[in-house]
Amino acid sequence: MSEPRIDPGAGTAVPPGFVIAIDGPVGAGKSTVARRLAEALGCVHIDSGSMYRALGWKALRLGVGLHDHRALARLAAGTDVRIVAGRSGSRVLVDGEDVTNALRTPAVDEASSVVSMCPAVRERMVALQRSMARAGGVVMDGRDIGTVVFPNAQVKFFLDADLTVRAERRLKDLQRAGGAAEPGTIREEVARRDARDRAREVAPLCAAPDAVRIDSTSLDAEAVVRVMLRQVAKTLASG
Ligand code: DC
Repeated sequence: MSEPRIDPGAGTAVPPGFVIAIDGPVGAGKSTVARRLAEALGCVHIDSGSMYRALGWKALRLGVGLHDHRALARLAAGTDVRIVAGRSGSRVLVDGEDVTNALRTPAVDEASSVVSMCPAVRERMVALQRSMARAGGVVMDGRDIGTVVFPNAQVKFFLDADLTVRAERRLKDLQRAGGAAEPGTIREEVARRDARDRAREVAPLCAAPDAVRIDSTSLDAEAVVRVMLRQVAKTLASG
């Protein structure tokens, strides 16, 4: 079923160079709302998590130790990760190979969170993220977008939700991708990944002081996008 197109309202066209940062923990709904917000505003959407997933996937494939920071630095330096628009949404290319369908497994969930602790990996991904955002208006979601990647983003959101709801969303994502999982295990994995993302030394998950906080526990994606669009319109109106 296709999603209803959200009308951003008059005067909500964003100028080139306009950046909207959306950060938050696993399952808060960042990627879904970022994609829909970008669609409504005619911006590019970049899911930065998919880039860490791409590197985690490559490390697993080549048998690179996920905690071996020297090997990971070499791997990151020699890897090209790109997000390109495809017919059925964005595709993630690793060294030119479309790996999109391999990135949403529990093994890659875990590998992406572990490799993202490596400073050299982050440096490389941040450089790629900044270069991808040069073209026009961008909505980028992740963990450090408003704090590190684009500290001067025109609009920043921090999207959160209760752990129970986030674990349920993650379970549904996995089931949609054809995977099977036990709800209790998923809840533990989500909590463990959040704790690691929040506790790491470099660019930990946290809200930028100037981020607008949204709790999506009892809001669906459309309601969150509407709140975001109102905020974008307010920022544009204030010049
Ligand atoms: O958003 P996601 O669940 O697809 O992200 C996968 C992992 O990548 C996440 O556990 C932490 C890492 N990540 C990060 O460190 N910084 C980002 N900007 C995005 C994701």
